[in-house]
Amino acid sequence: MSSKKIVVIPGDGIGPEITAAAREPLVLAARKAGLDLQFTTCLAGGAAIDARGVPLPDDTLAAAQAADAVLLGAVGGPKWDGVAPDLRPEKAILGLRKALGLYANLRPVKVSESLAAYSPLKPEIVAGTDILIVRELTGGIYFGPKCESKTVEGVERAWDTEIYSAPEITRIVKMACQAAKGRRGKVTSVDKANVLASSRLWRRVAAAVAKEEGVEIGNMYVDNCAMQLVLGPKTFDVIVTSNLFGDILSDEAAVVAGSIGLLPSASIGDGPGLYEPIHGSAPDIAGQGIANPIGTILSAAMLLRHSLKAEAPAAAIEAAVDAVLAAGYRTADLYRPGLTKVSTNKMAELIIKQL
Ligand code: IPM
Ligand code: MG
Repeated sequence: MSSKKIVVIPGDGIGPEITAAAREPLVLAARKAGLDLQFTTCLAGGAAIDARGVPLPDDTLAAAQAADAVLLGAVGGPKWDGVAPDLRPEKAILGLRKALGLYANLRPVKVSESLAAYSPLKPEIVAGTDILIVRELTGGIYFGPKCESKTVEGVERAWDTEIYSAPEITRIVKMACQAAKGRRGKVTSVDKANVLASSRLWRRVAAAVAKEEGVEIGNMYVDNCAMQLVLGPKTFDVIVTSNLFGDILSDEAAVVAGSIGLLPSASIGDGPGLYEPIHGSAPDIAGQGIANPIGTILSAAMLLRHSLKAEAPAAAIEAAVDAVLAAGYRTADLYRPGLTKVSTNKMAELIIKQL
């Protein structure tokens, strides 16, 4: 058995319940691939603000840096809405992304026939959708020079700056092209090159990278992409885009799939990867045992695939989730008459049984 170090950051709201539920399926699948997982639980987000006064304590960061991978629940909640901008729970995620060099965020959005009915769009438009969003994660306007408030000529102003370097664009587009080769081979690079200089550089570099990688690339303005995602989500394969555009489009794509509780994400780059469901901390339902653990369990599958290079157990978890959903089991968020409503833990148990 080879041993791997996993840091678990439960975070806030439903975070502790869903990370707890994901642990056993992860352990079981890993064991079958000869991997013995050693877990360390660390504080971040609002929980860390309450206990330690900061959203990302040094020991959490150090543990994450020394780990093979990090599994995160969710951070944030109305309780911390009033804290200073630099101490917000979200700073924990942004700090981890930057410190771990996690420059790529992968968000797969897949809609099976049985889940198409959950979409707010017509089932025939969404069924068969299979998109991989590759979002740049450590650059752009999220991390550019900013000013919270400055009074200039008697008027208060604030600003953020979108900056991209050619190497930052190159590495993310390259990752998207390589992902496309294992899929349908089509990359859509999304920008706002009709207005933004940073997008014009993005488009130029993206074209050169795609040519070198031998991958077909199309360009789309972000406003048009937002529209095309609801008009014809099936037409997309891999979407590659900047940090801010990716933040917005990935939420839109998630809601097209209709079941935000099912969607995982992987943030990868130079160091250990960070895996988290794309939904938030849902403080309104925290502690009731009704949260959907599937987004986190599928994030654990991505952890196995990307950080531990264990494809077979990753695929086994995904197949187990599909089987449990196909058998009609649903947590409250996806329950409909005629199906079987189960709790967070029961859902995890059913998935474990499938494994
Ligand atoms: C996401 C979230 C984060 C982001 C927040 C929590 C900082 O919306 O992962 O998409 O904006 O990147
Ligand atoms: Mg977001």
